[in-house]
Amino acid sequence: MGEQLRFPDGFAWGAATASYQVEGGVAEGGRGESIWDRFAHTPGTIVGGDTGDVACDHYHRYREDVALMRELGLTHYRFSLAWPRLQPDGTGTLNPAGLDFYSRLVDELLDSGIQPWVTLYHWDLPQALEDAGGWPERDTAHRFADYAARAHAALSDRVQHWTTLNEPWVAAFLGHAEGVHAPGRRDHAAAMRAAHHLLLGHGLAMSEMRAAGAGSSCGITLNLAPVDPATEADRDLARRVDGLLNRQFLDPLLLGHHPADVLDDVADVTGSDHIRDGDERIINAPLDFLGINYYTRQVVTSSDQPRIWRPGDEPSAWPGSADMSPAPRGLPTTEMGWEVDPAGLGELLERLHRDYPAIPLYITENGAAYDDERVDGQVHDRARVDYLRAHFRTAHQAIANGVDLRGYFVWSLLDNFEWAFGFGKRFGLVHVDYDTLTRTPKDSARFYAEVTRSNGLA
Ligand code: NOJ
Repeated sequence: MGEQLRFPDGFAWGAATASYQVEGGVAEGGRGESIWDRFAHTPGTIVGGDTGDVACDHYHRYREDVALMRELGLTHYRFSLAWPRLQPDGTGTLNPAGLDFYSRLVDELLDSGIQPWVTLYHWDLPQALEDAGGWPERDTAHRFADYAARAHAALSDRVQHWTTLNEPWVAAFLGHAEGVHAPGRRDHAAAMRAAHHLLLGHGLAMSEMRAAGAGSSCGITLNLAPVDPATEADRDLARRVDGLLNRQFLDPLLLGHHPADVLDDVADVTGSDHIRDGDERIINAPLDFLGINYYTRQVVTSSDQPRIWRPGDEPSAWPGSADMSPAPRGLPTTEMGWEVDPAGLGELLERLHRDYPAIPLYITENGAAYDDERVDGQVHDRARVDYLRAHFRTAHQAIANGVDLRGYFVWSLLDNFEWAFGFGKRFGLVHVDYDTLTRTPKDSARFYAEVTRSNGLA
């Protein structure tokens, strides 16, 4: 408390959402089915049987939501395009009604002085492409590049910032190995193939967007975390988990090759036949920025206890990391059970600065779920304010230490559909009443508005 911290001039202060988590309107404007529609409607997949059919109804209420962003003083808004709104079957010319929605949203943002920051893939693959084999199949990477090229051509006159993928680790592993995200597969080899094809799709999309010559700023967002062993005996386990979570993505993107130890660890699971000559060169396309989603640190230990992703889930391990489980350290936790560890963000930023080629960094997600209650039209979410303040301080310190951090997006603008957890986990700066769809800015929204307006902490 007390000290004033200013961020560099031009620092981006944003908030983030994703299409399936906020839009609703799933049957409107000719939108096709996505793997998340299919998955969420499969009994037993989502806590409480929730689905994204209506979600925050952002599809109809985007003007009100942009007005809220304005109150928050956002300079940037990060959102994703629903691929099946634009290509209902995953291929061909763009669906005009789908494009019209994003075009109106972009105009509304620009009219409000807010820069749109588009993510092309935040996990809602057209179901038709899943039926053809999905991300474990190489062709999906080519389909993604085609979709990216068309979406970019349609919107890059007004959208400067483009992110190919959001969190490919989550899409590959929670979707194909753990089975707790769409498409709900439990096949470790499929997960490794999906991870590679997601990266390949990213590289192909980058080259399409560059070829268009629009001068866009293009990059990718990864979920990254320091991975620490709980005990000396867990050192090799931590290496393996770090390999799968962090280096499996960072190394091909920024160094031009898959990490040899990871390929070795999983050789008996998946082999590497799906990695073809030339793929690594495509994936290594120069990035304009790297987006980082950080929530907590991973401290790992070998254990007979299953790794629990959600209540009632069955035990499963990542390939090459048998019997791994998180080791709680007794720190305060958020409603997700994730330990509050701002120091982990600092370590992560410094590691990227130290171990990888220089590249502008953005925190494209950071935030916390708490059990918020609206009383008399107010939400006093003190814990979220404390969480954000602590992480902003760490980011400021990292910049002072030389890290090239250019912006920060809070997850999330609104309470929304938290995937397998449904609507029960609230991450928003703005509370959403799911019966009336009323929006109520929380105390954290007012705190964040002061941060964005003063470009720092008062
Ligand atoms: C990362 C994901 O990108 C986002 O969709 C999710 O809601 C948040 N983390 C919180 O779990």
